[in-house]
Amino acid sequence: MKKEKTAAKNTSVGESGLMEKIVSLAKRRGFVFPGSEIYGGLANSYEYGPAGVELKKNIQDEWWRVFVRERSDMVGLDSSIILHPKTWEASGHVAGLVDAMVECKACHTRTRADHLIENHFEAKGEKVSVEGKTEKELDEIIQKEKIKCPNCGKFDWTPVRKFNLLFETHVGIVPEAQSKVYLRGETAQGIFISFKNILDSTRVRLPFGVGQLGKSFRNEITKGNFIFRTLEFEQAEIEYFFDPEEMDWKALYEKWKGDMHEFVTGNLGIKADMLRWREHGDEERSFYSKRTEDMEYKFPFGFKELWGLAYRTDYDLNQHMKFSGVDLSYTDPTSGRKFVPHVIEPAVGINRLMAMVMLDAYTEDGDRIYLKLKPRLAPYKAAVFPLLSNKPALVEKARAIYNDLQKRFPVAWDDRGNIGKRYYAQDEIGTPFCLTIDFDTLGEGGAANKDTVTVRDRDTGTQERVAIKKLGEFLHGKIYH
Ligand code: GAP
Repeated sequence: MKKEKTAAKNTSVGESGLMEKIVSLAKRRGFVFPGSEIYGGLANSYEYGPAGVELKKNIQDEWWRVFVRERSDMVGLDSSIILHPKTWEASGHVAGLVDAMVECKACHTRTRADHLIENHFEAKGEKVSVEGKTEKELDEIIQKEKIKCPNCGKFDWTPVRKFNLLFETHVGIVPEAQSKVYLRGETAQGIFISFKNILDSTRVRLPFGVGQLGKSFRNEITKGNFIFRTLEFEQAEIEYFFDPEEMDWKALYEKWKGDMHEFVTGNLGIKADMLRWREHGDEERSFYSKRTEDMEYKFPFGFKELWGLAYRTDYDLNQHMKFSGVDLSYTDPTSGRKFVPHVIEPAVGINRLMAMVMLDAYTEDGDRIYLKLKPRLAPYKAAVFPLLSNKPALVEKARAIYNDLQKRFPVAWDDRGNIGKRYYAQDEIGTPFCLTIDFDTLGEGGAANKDTVTVRDRDTGTQERVAIKKLGEFLHGKIYH
């Protein structure tokens, strides 16, 4: 991304207070509200307001367009949130999607043991990783270091225990063992269990991928850092199936890394120097993966996982064959060879992408604050203002323009306060263009500007007059260039 030409400054991520500024702006401007606020809140849950739902949807649409619609080797799927419970036994999540937790006996705060220990050492200026340590080893460190509860300051922990992150519920009215189901912990498993139906109902041939967007649920009980880690979140996952005898998985893996990076920098407009790749060590890597790398973004709380890329081999399809008894192999139409395909999985959370996009776009320019969002992602592409709300001729003209543009783009309307305040509000929402309908538009300033409006650019603040009849094309060119 090009460097800023003006004096405007993107408050560099990591600078103190950026997260607080974003959380506050998100609430003030209708992006993200704290979850269940009128009941005192619910930890790690959020509501997406009118601007937030548009931004989130634009990120989802962009992902779907780039990775599903515009690729001939991809198809889409929308599977259920509640799948047959055997799915999660087969996938290993019932046994494996666990965190080692401790509970403070004094205030009953539960926290992940690894986070507790790592934060403790970080506060001392030491970098310690406890990946792969057993519960007993974690216990020993907590005891030896006498790590206190971050909530109440007491040192009175339960022993470290494994805690499963899958949400359980029951189908039907009787909560008995046979009726137990799980809310999906990842969208990926829906793809594996539909693999045969996709093969049988379409003309796909290896290599091909299946993309899915949808909610996943995890019983996260550690501090979520705004929408970075939440109980429910939108995942965008791809299972890319291939023949390991025909394709070199390492080359395919590198190709996916390139596609992911291009999406984040090109489509979402993130600066490349805010990103890095980190490979999982043997102890951290999930049980199903032969190689995992995370694309990490430099959040204000450090470089953290944004998007994971895992080579899951044929693990999942084999497991589902074993547990279901159904043949999930693929027959090569040319050679007739029958085998279980391997899979590479790029898996990202849309909410995490949205947090990154907002943080990255946050710009302060003197007193002015604006979200320098890519126009394609902005919740509203333009805002329409009648110069004065008490002049019916201006309001009527502005309404006609608003109604017309709204058929093509999401457009905001504002007739409150003065123009400066309206600019201020739209800047914080990230609206790339503000259109003012004034007396010149009505022809009162002479023929030259009749039926033109002032278009003000969010990033430069510059204004130009554009003919009403050319507005649609003008905006389209600027937004979707
Ligand atoms: N199917 C593989 C899988 O689910 P993961 O690394 O656990 O792997 C993939 O999750 C992505 O989903 C993460 O990179 C992150 O972007 C997002 N994600 C995971 N847990 C999340 C949570 N509790 N809240 C928000 N996003 C989450």
